[in-house]
Amino acid sequence: MLLGGGIIFLTLLTWVESSDMLCTSAMPGMPGIPGIPGRDGRDGQKGAKGEKGVPANSNTFSLKGEKGIVGLPGSMGKTGPKGPPGPPGDKGEVGTAGDGGMSGNHKHQYQSAFTMARATESHPAKNTAIVFNRAITNDHQDYNVTSGMFVCRIPGLYYFVYHASHSSNLCVSLYAANEKKASFCDHMSNTHQVTSGGALVQLQRDQEVWLSVNDYNGMIGIQDNDSVFSGFLVFPD
Ligand SMILES: *[C@@H]1O[C@H](CO)[C@@H](O)[C@H](O)[C@H]1NC(C)=O
Ligand SMILES: *[C@@H]1O[C@H](CO)[C@@H](O)[C@H](O)[C@H]1NC(C)=O
Repeated sequence: MLLGGGIIFLTLLTWVESSDMLCTSAMPGMPGIPGIPGRDGRDGQKGAKGEKGVPANSNTFSLKGEKGIVGLPGSMGKTGPKGPPGPPGDKGEVGTAGDGGMSGNHKHQYQSAFTMARATESHPAKNTAIVFNRAITNDHQDYNVTSGMFVCRIPGLYYFVYHASHSSNLCVSLYAANEKKASFCDHMSNTHQVTSGGALVQLQRDQEVWLSVNDYNGMIGIQDNDSVFSGFLVFPD
């Protein structure tokens, strides 16, 4: 640019000297001012494709960044709908034994006892159960006043005993479960006597016990001359 400007200056200086000369003599015209430089030429043709570049160094460009800090947990979502019930679980282990229970009422559970009196002047019928019709004690109505038989409700060992007033000879037999267990005979030597007999008997439920007389049936049951039949459970099975 500086060089170009210098050229223009020298050209002008030359033109001024030439003008002085124009006035004095007709000389050929001076060369004109150089034109403005032309416009840039058109783009050249596209060059040939370059050679393949050197592969990039993976160590330089592919380094993985450090792991970031774990973010804060998000807020809790809404409760979903209730699912269907699952299958039953396995059976649990057997638990430890519980404490002992309260003592039961032994008295009420195993209780059977009766004493029945015969309230009649007439002698009992022979070879059938003697009916003692006046109850002194008849727990649970185990002695049947209609049949004259004790009916076993609690299996076990029972004691039966009678004390009979009589005004004539008397033979009493004790029957249990349709079997004669014992017999007692007392012959009169006074106007009124008392005779007795008893036995322990093992009984099953519903077995019956009764007293009977044979031809010697002088048993009475009057004021001050009672005849009583008693029985009670000694040991339950
Ligand atoms: C008592 O004996 C009578 C005659 O055998 C019988 O009809 C009655 O059902 C008996 N009563 C009970 C409570 O067992
Ligand atoms: C009861 O027996 C006695 C004898 O032991 C007799 O003296 C009395 O008269 C009898 N009582 C009745 C009501 O028969």
